[in-house]
Order: sequence, then C-alpha cells, then structure tokens
Amino acid sequence: MNRTFNAVLFMLAISIVYAQQAGLSHQSMEELILNQGYPLEVHEIETEDGYLLTAYRIPYGKDKASNGKSVIVQHGILCSSAAWVISRPDQALGFLLADGGYDVWLTNSRGNTYSRKHKTYDTSSAQYWDFSFHEMGYYDLPATIDYILEKTNETQLFYIGHSQGTTQFFAMASTRPEYNAKIRHMSALAPIAFLDHTRGTVRTLGFFASVLQKVAWLLNLHYILDQSFVMSFIERTACRQTAITRPICDNILFLIAGYDSQELNVTLVPVITSYTPAGASVKQLLHFSQLLHNNEKFTLYDYGEKYNVFHYGQNTPPQYDLSKVTAPVMLHYAYNDWISGVQDVDKLYTHLPNSKRKVVGFDFFNHLDFMWARDARQLVYDDVLDIMSQY
Ligand SMILES: *[C@@H]1O[C@H](CO)[C@@H](O)[C@H](O)[C@H]1NC(C)=O
Ligand SMILES: *[C@@H]1O[C@H](CO)[C@@H](O)[C@H](O)[C@H]1NC(C)=O
Repeated sequence: MNRTFNAVLFMLAISIVYAQQAGLSHQSMEELILNQGYPLEVHEIETEDGYLLTAYRIPYGKDKASNGKSVIVQHGILCSSAAWVISRPDQALGFLLADGGYDVWLTNSRGNTYSRKHKTYDTSSAQYWDFSFHEMGYYDLPATIDYILEKTNETQLFYIGHSQGTTQFFAMASTRPEYNAKIRHMSALAPIAFLDHTRGTVRTLGFFASVLQKVAWLLNLHYILDQSFVMSFIERTACRQTAITRPICDNILFLIAGYDSQELNVTLVPVITSYTPAGASVKQLLHFSQLLHNNEKFTLYDYGEKYNVFHYGQNTPPQYDLSKVTAPVMLHYAYNDWISGVQDVDKLYTHLPNSKRKVVGFDFFNHLDFMWARDARQLVYDDVLDIMSQY
C-alpha cells in the first residue's frame, strides 16, 4: 500500500476522533501568525480572469531584520497557506523564512478555503470551477508575482513550491516564459510534472477518474473535498458521536490507516486536518489523473479529440515545453515519496535547462513530510535557505 496515502487516511481517522472529542479549535490564518508574535499583512490579488486570491504576508521575522528579498511559498493540491505556519516557529517554513530575513508571501490557489472568490462568477457555479493547475500557473502566479514586485519595488523574487505548487510553476514558466526573468531562484519540494512512476493507492485511484468524471457530470458536481464537506462527512456518517456504529467506524478507520511515520508529529495531526483538505476542482483532479497514464508526457488538459481541436487546434493536448523554464531550479525529492517518483524527477531534471537536484538524506521521507516532518528543517529547509542565500 502507498504509505503517503495511508498517512492521509491516518490523519483523517485521527482527526475525526479528535474533532468529536475536543471540538475543532480552528485558528484563522491571522491568529496562526499573530499568536506566534510575527507581523502580518493580508492582501487580495486579482487575476486577469477575475479570481480574487488571498495572500498572507509576513514581511519580516521576530528580530525585524530584513534582507529586502521576497519569497512566494505556494502550497500543493488540497492544501492552503496554513500548511506553512501550523508547526512550531522553529519548524514551520513560513516562520523560518521570515526569521531568515525574507519577506514571506504565503499564497493560496484559486478555489481553496482562502481564495474562494470571484469578481463576477458565483463560487458554486460551473464557470467558477472550470480550472486545473494550468490556470493556477497561467493566471494566478503571474498576477501574484506582478503584485508583489510592484508592492516591493523589486524586479525579482524567490519561489518555493510544494507538489502542485511546482506543477503550476512549470506551467507558468513554459507558457509565459517572460516570467522566468522575474524569478531569482525556484525551490521545488516534491516536484511534479511527469506522473508515470507514481505508485500505490494514488495510482489505483487514478483508474477511477473516468468514474469520477461521470458521477460529477451526473450530480453537477464541480468541486470536492473542501472544509464543509469534511465537517458534514463527520456529522452524517456512521462515524458520528452518537451512532451505534461508532466503535466499528473508529476501528475500521484505524485499520485502514494503520500507519506510523517516524517523521509525523501526531500532536499536529488534528491541527493539520482542521485545515486540510481545503478543496479542489474536479477538473484539477482529472488533469492530474490524465498525467498518471500519459506515456511520459507533461501535457495541458485533455478535453477529448473533438474539443481538443476547439481548444488547441489539434486532436491531442499540447505538451508543456519545459525547455522554456530557464529560471534556476533546485529539485528537492525523496526516495519514499510515492507520488513524486524518483524516475519522474530524474526525467524532469533532464528536461529543465537550468536545474539541479538534491535528494533528502533520510530514506523514509515522504510527500507530506516536506510540510510537516519533525525534522523538515534539518533535512530540507536548511538546504533551501542555504541555496537561496547564494542568489
Ligand atoms: C509536535 O507538535 C506540537 C504542536 O506544534 C509541538 O508542541 C511539539 O513540540 C511537536 N513535537 C515534536 C517532536 O516536534
Ligand atoms: C523604485 O525603484 C526605482 C529604481 O530602483 C527607484 O528609482 C524608485 O525611486 C523606487 N520607488 C520607490 C517608491 O521606492
């Protein structure tokens, strides 16, 4: 079984139990940052296609020292800016960067908990949810980069992405190559472009994509797995506190999720699950599932032959031209990451003209450990900051 996916189930299981017993103590992004004694600004960024995104800025760290350089930290699928500030300040990437002198911008992709807004579209409409990681790269990132550069009067900034946060960067840098010049350096944590060697349950679930597509069409469903979904799941299912089935439910959940990561801080699990999953569009999930059996290609969304002609003027979706990603990139990857497979990272490395790679020095490090491992600082973040200090 896929350990990463098991970890996700494990977290869900534990969180359901915690949520029922303790009631969710959910802090806002403002509280998460201000309560730790860091400064905060909240910014709303409008994209070319009318989406309104929320970015949380920690302009400097506790000692107020600043090197005048900005960095975007971009979360992955189903996550949010909260991912970078829920651990202890000496463990969380958001705080470590601020204390390292950086002007930190924790961004949120369209559709997630903090960026579910549009100038004209209703956020439950099909129009609103008609996006995948492509639009997050093509629209969200350029709008965010330009906004920050204008605010700071700088010409370049740093970028750190995790998982889908790297995919959307590659989508941007290959389709709007002029943005490469605005990037000092990009750190790719658990990079994703090719998904041919993704293992385990995530791959198995990928085979159900066509079912998802049909069900979504039948139910007129445009997005899934957001916060209100998780809460209503807890309330409505056999797992609710008062259900006779409750003990069975607990045991089954723990059986499925019988997983223990050395790097996972169990205390943090209920906190993590009170912010995750943060919502994704059906199209976004389908786009990723297409990459799972794509014959080693990193392509735009596949609408099917007929509609591909309409969208792209050809039968098949075009490939992202990775040779246009000229910004300096460091690929941070891990042997036990079942989603971002080592062979796929190798392939990405050979396609990127200006990239280096570094494997995490702990064999059991997994996809989620890049955000929440107890030793993420020693194993990854110290390297990231060290590399950034050279640019
Ligand atoms: C686990 O997380 C909690 C809450 O952030 C923290 O207080 C504790 O020190 C962490 N433990 C380890 C071993 O990192
Ligand atoms: C922005 O930078 C330019 C060139 O470095 C400088 O001429 C200008 O005065 C700066 N503007 C502000 C508002 O700091």
